[in-house]
Amino acid sequence: MLIHKLLFGAPTWVLVWLIACSSPNPQPSLTPIPSLAPGATETLVPAIQAAAAATAPAVSAKADPAIGEPIFLKNCSPCHGTRAEGVTAPALRNNTFIQTGGDQAIFGTIANGRPGTAMPAWLQTNGGPLTEVQISNVVAFLHKLQNVPPLPTATPLPPAPTETPSPPNAPTPEPARPSNPGAPGPAALLKGDAARGRGLFGTYCATCHGPEGVQGVPNPGSDDGSVPVLNPIDPTLANQDPKVFAANVDLFVEHGSTPSGPSPRIIMPAFGDLKLLTDQQRADLITYVMGLNGAK
Ligand code: HEC
Ligand code: HEC
Repeated sequence: MLIHKLLFGAPTWVLVWLIACSSPNPQPSLTPIPSLAPGATETLVPAIQAAAAATAPAVSAKADPAIGEPIFLKNCSPCHGTRAEGVTAPALRNNTFIQTGGDQAIFGTIANGRPGTAMPAWLQTNGGPLTEVQISNVVAFLHKLQNVPPLPTATPLPPAPTETPSPPNAPTPEPARPSNPGAPGPAALLKGDAARGRGLFGTYCATCHGPEGVQGVPNPGSDDGSVPVLNPIDPTLANQDPKVFAANVDLFVEHGSTPSGPSPRIIMPAFGDLKLLTDQQRADLITYVMGLNGAK
């Protein structure tokens, strides 16, 4: 949270300093922290790194389209297009809502998403990866894309081939399990609060799993090619029995996991074993993730 504000509002020397201290191929929005598994080079947990930048100067309040552009490209272009020309979502280039909606309404749409549509909520307190300052910078960038030459809407890529559904009567597949060993921890048995979990998800999980868990970031060197989405979650983890569902999610959150593949760049941190989150925080997160997947 803080690190993002600082990263995106800070003068160039802070960025240069952070990048100089980081691994090869750094991206401004991905802050590496010490690796947690052999070969892992990124963890992308801004909150964990906040302390490192605590001495950096405060954020400037002025929104900057140049800062908004890379945030847009990384987060919004999959649906809205690299030039905001529209792919699976409306064009934001020459868009009437951007031109007439007013900044408060545009900010609100991005921060809260459009429930019932594919547009997710991006603000951290709503389960997204972005801070208020980052969203303001994206709004400033969108204003630069009005009254510009029109572009044809991009053609969506064909959907990735889906796994063939197993025939009826096939044995139930084994649930997905983390690479790291260990039993479910105390969080799986605590009563969680989904509203608190949503804010925690924005702070600790959305950088990798996307806003509301809908968009896994690319993960070069892993067999999957990207971090798994959690909304919808892998069907082998979901379960009618909330206790079983909670334990399935908890195993990953407690112990972390290194994805299969030759050299996955991103791994799932062990939030429980490394005491990055309390038992109650993990319980809140588990309840939120289950709720994203329709569990009561
Ligand atoms: C997973 C796909 C997806 C992603 C990623 C996404 N959006 Fe959207 N967005 C949509 C869809 C679908 C709509 C249309 C919602 C509706 O029908 O009202 C939309 C609508 C919008 C609108 C309102 C447009 C209008 O004409 O009313 C804005 C503004 C917007 N998105 C901004 C963003 C920004 C900024 C980002 C990145 C931070 C982003 N979106 C990322 C799917 C997405
Ligand atoms: C640094 C990036 C990163 C962060 C931050 C992160 N995860 Fe993950 N997560 C991953 C990766 C990579 C995997 C895939 C692990 C594997 O395949 O073994 C994963 C897997 C999972 C899975 C199993 C999903 C599946 O389909 O197998 C769950 C559940 C999960 N994460 C929950 C969370 C929650 C909750 C948080 C926040 C507390 C979180 N993750 C934060 C990277 C991350």
